[in-house]
Amino acid sequence: MHREKKKATMQFLLEVVDILTNYVKKTFDRSTKVLDFHHPHQLLEGMEGFNLELSDQPESLEQILVDCRDTLKYGVRTGHPRFFNQLSSGLDIIGLAGEWLTSTANTNMFTYEIAPVFVLMEQLTLKKMREMIGWPAGEGDGLFSPGGAISNMYSVMIARYKYFPEVKTKGMSAAPRLVLFTSEHSHYSIKKAGAALGFGTDNVILLSTDERGRVIPADLEAKILDVKQKGYVPLFVNATAGSTVYGAFDPINEIADICEKYNLWLHVDGAWGGGLLMSRKHRHKLNGVERANSVTWNPHKMMGVPLQCSAILVREKGILAGCNSMCAGYLFQPDKQYDVTYDTGDKAIQCGRHVDIFKFWLMWKAKGTIGFEQHIDKCLDLSQYLYNKINNREGFQMVFDGPQHTNVCFWYIPPSLRGMSDSEERREKLHRVAPKIKAMMMESGTTMVGYQPQGNKVNFFRMVVSNAAVTQSDIDFLVDEIERLGQDL
Ligand SMILES: *Cc1c(COP(=O)(O)O)cnc(C)c1O
Ligand SMILES: *[C@@H]1O[C@H](CO)[C@@H](O)[C@H](O)[C@H]1NC(C)=O
Repeated sequence: MHREKKKATMQFLLEVVDILTNYVKKTFDRSTKVLDFHHPHQLLEGMEGFNLELSDQPESLEQILVDCRDTLKYGVRTGHPRFFNQLSSGLDIIGLAGEWLTSTANTNMFTYEIAPVFVLMEQLTLKKMREMIGWPAGEGDGLFSPGGAISNMYSVMIARYKYFPEVKTKGMSAAPRLVLFTSEHSHYSIKKAGAALGFGTDNVILLSTDERGRVIPADLEAKILDVKQKGYVPLFVNATAGSTVYGAFDPINEIADICEKYNLWLHVDGAWGGGLLMSRKHRHKLNGVERANSVTWNPHKMMGVPLQCSAILVREKGILAGCNSMCAGYLFQPDKQYDVTYDTGDKAIQCGRHVDIFKFWLMWKAKGTIGFEQHIDKCLDLSQYLYNKINNREGFQMVFDGPQHTNVCFWYIPPSLRGMSDSEERREKLHRVAPKIKAMMMESGTTMVGYQPQGNKVNFFRMVVSNAAVTQSDIDFLVDEIERLGQDL
């Protein structure tokens, strides 16, 4: 009986593997849809043979297999070569294998005691990333965190700790009024960090940008002086290397000059653009990054590593631990038999920490640095291809010229709006075009691409490429599909 049970369990696992490998195959097959869209109420009401309700009694392994299959069926194929909706996309097979292994090992990053191999892999990989940033001998500190928003939050915390360490024990009342600066094109995570860490969103000051979305250094200096004049303390500048919507790279060297002059912490948010450091052709866009005090870099975006995988890298050694350590006696006993500096858990604001390193390390092994470089170069070439294709094409209008990253932002102008001169009415109509096309795309399941307004600009499409499976034919498909769906709007 016992043996029978074991056999059935193993059989079940093999069938799950079968479901997964089938899914992988179909994801790369262009005749498969990107998604099979349903409204929330439809999924909640239950589909044939698939019900989200939890049951009191155990269900059969057959039903569990159906549940696995259907969970994938009604989801979105983010690895599909025509999924362009997010900065993180793709389905890297080595990365996937890494994730499977990680779940099988099912351990926790907080101590060397229970994750010896993963902890060392993390340290080694972080050092390699710091070398790529250009910090001497790859010295410094860092951690993998649950995403770029959290990595950015770390940067604000350690900046505050660096200048006002007493806040750790006494709280914000021990510090003067502190001000953070970031681009008006910033991802909202800095504002969140400002609120969550007790600075207040009023003390997050937005910097003006040029037509391509890059911070204007003179505006930063003017705003620092203004803040000082009011008696507040400018603490932190967030420069962006690859903004979320425009893919803009702020001029880091000029910003670093100002930070040095006024003694501010310089953080470079390379959540999206950090991957370009792997490319000899494109890394110049981050010139000056080696002058940053901290850098966020998400391998789960441009480098195609499965979610999630984000690093916060810090130039000064020891400051993460200084800022965050609480020395919990039940985890971080100082009298263990090994070198306890490898117990990295106390540097984190989390207690337990997921193993995000293995899939990344394994991909790096499998591709080599050169493989990542080729991936980055290819994605940027594809975006240039798209840009060349639609720039000056009838019915398309670019939001900005000459993309710096893979972000290509554009309006599709349906024939009905082409002759109309600029007016409030035309703006309102154009604002509704991208959402309508997107809805039709999702309902027909053919492709997905993001859209948003920005500042006073009405809804436009933001195309990005980070998926290694994308080819020129997929870019052609997207353009045709937008024209097909949009022609009668
Ligand atoms: C995506 C992004 C973030 C947030 O990263 P998550 O991993 O999604 O938390 C932060 N900054 C920039 C520039 C981003 O593009
Ligand atoms: C910095 O700017 C970027 C993008 O402009 C943004 O994503 C990030 O959240 C900002 N915040 C911090 C704390 O670095």
